[in-house]
Amino acid sequence: MSTQWKIETQAVQGAYSPKPGEPRVVTICQSTTFKYDSADYMAKLFDLEVPGHFYTRLGNPTSEAFEQKLAMMEGGVGALATSAGQAATTLSIFNICQAGQHFVTASTLYGGTYNLFASTLPKMGIEVTFVDPEASIDEILNAFRPNTRAIFAETIGNPGLNVLDFAKFSAIAKEKNVPLIIDSTFATPYLCRPFEHGANIVVHSATKYIDGHATSVGGAIVDGGNFDWEGGNYPELTEPDTSYHGLQYVKTFGPAAYIVKARVQLMRDLGMTPAPMNSFLFNQGLHTLPLRMQRHSDNALAVARFLESHPSVSWVKYPGLESHPSHDRALKYLPLGSSGVLTFGIKGGAAAGKIFMESCKLVALVVHVGDARSCVLHPASTTHRQLTEEQQNASGVTPDLIRLSVGIEHQDDIIADIDQALALSRK
Ligand SMILES: Cc1ncc(COP(=O)(O)O)c(C=O)c1O
Repeated sequence: MSTQWKIETQAVQGAYSPKPGEPRVVTICQSTTFKYDSADYMAKLFDLEVPGHFYTRLGNPTSEAFEQKLAMMEGGVGALATSAGQAATTLSIFNICQAGQHFVTASTLYGGTYNLFASTLPKMGIEVTFVDPEASIDEILNAFRPNTRAIFAETIGNPGLNVLDFAKFSAIAKEKNVPLIIDSTFATPYLCRPFEHGANIVVHSATKYIDGHATSVGGAIVDGGNFDWEGGNYPELTEPDTSYHGLQYVKTFGPAAYIVKARVQLMRDLGMTPAPMNSFLFNQGLHTLPLRMQRHSDNALAVARFLESHPSVSWVKYPGLESHPSHDRALKYLPLGSSGVLTFGIKGGAAAGKIFMESCKLVALVVHVGDARSCVLHPASTTHRQLTEEQQNASGVTPDLIRLSVGIEHQDDIIADIDQALALSRK
């Protein structure tokens, strides 16, 4: 059975096995609708009594192949592909949190997620408390309220690169009987499978390593199927859904209740659907994800070691380095490697950083991470520029911080390019 395969095999062959005469490759099903002969059968589709596609906003064969493979690789019970990583994060919260309710999140987040939580969700009446993920259990427990619905964190914080203390966060989630939602974009299922460490829901920006070639924006939610919604206080999953003529998600779909609700209720209403073409490319990306993640991680470690001994560099942060505060956690939760992103402080601050980035020839100045090609960015003036200085500091962004997304080129060429650009930044 393919769920028993190693992740490298799942990545290539998982969740799609063509019957005789069918295409070897998952096809791009560029169709909004699907034809049926019987009105009764179509009614059953709408009632979710039989499997099948009827409208691409709710599901599509190409997206389904991607969803099923990703769910398999994460060890979850189901997945929902979305139009962007931001859509996945938004829906993961909306699915169990509404106006008048609250959730807790680690403060070390991607800037877009920080804005979503600090600015947009509060406008919709959803309150958020940011906690320092290194705070004590008691301090984090203090952030909870009677109406707290979830706790959220990133496996590897972007761009702080702190590795999450899964044992602490999952213990807190269990004590408060709320799901632990993890953004595992930087780790991908090859480097870390959060469900094995107590997470209940995983979100991804597929735009990054899953695509891997900088072609498509997209995301996904994966359901671990391991949260007891009936044991918690989640009437939206256990009571009849009046917008779906009384459907009871837990009763009807058991462990897949959360992900079915996200699709048939939220995707139905909000339509954050991926294009089939993009799902095709994400599915292709998954084929080589294990190979690429190993190479990204090995290259990033080599670059981090080089930078650590470089006179123009004041500090380097990479969880794979012994000097990183999260190194022990990286060994525990990311045993195969710490992914491709590292940050460093350039001597001469933001001004030297500008010269450095403009002097790189192979490493491109790009607002992106997770591409096969190496790229570089100054978060304080780009991805995190809408945040106040205080918010930037809470996210781990300082003015001298340069973020490198180390690609899968030969590490000697990447290091040579960085070396010549650092030399120019000193002049
Ligand atoms: C960790 C993380 N989560 C989520 C997102 C948002 O993803 P997208 O750009 O696909 O909406 C990003 C984007 O950079 C990210 O780095």
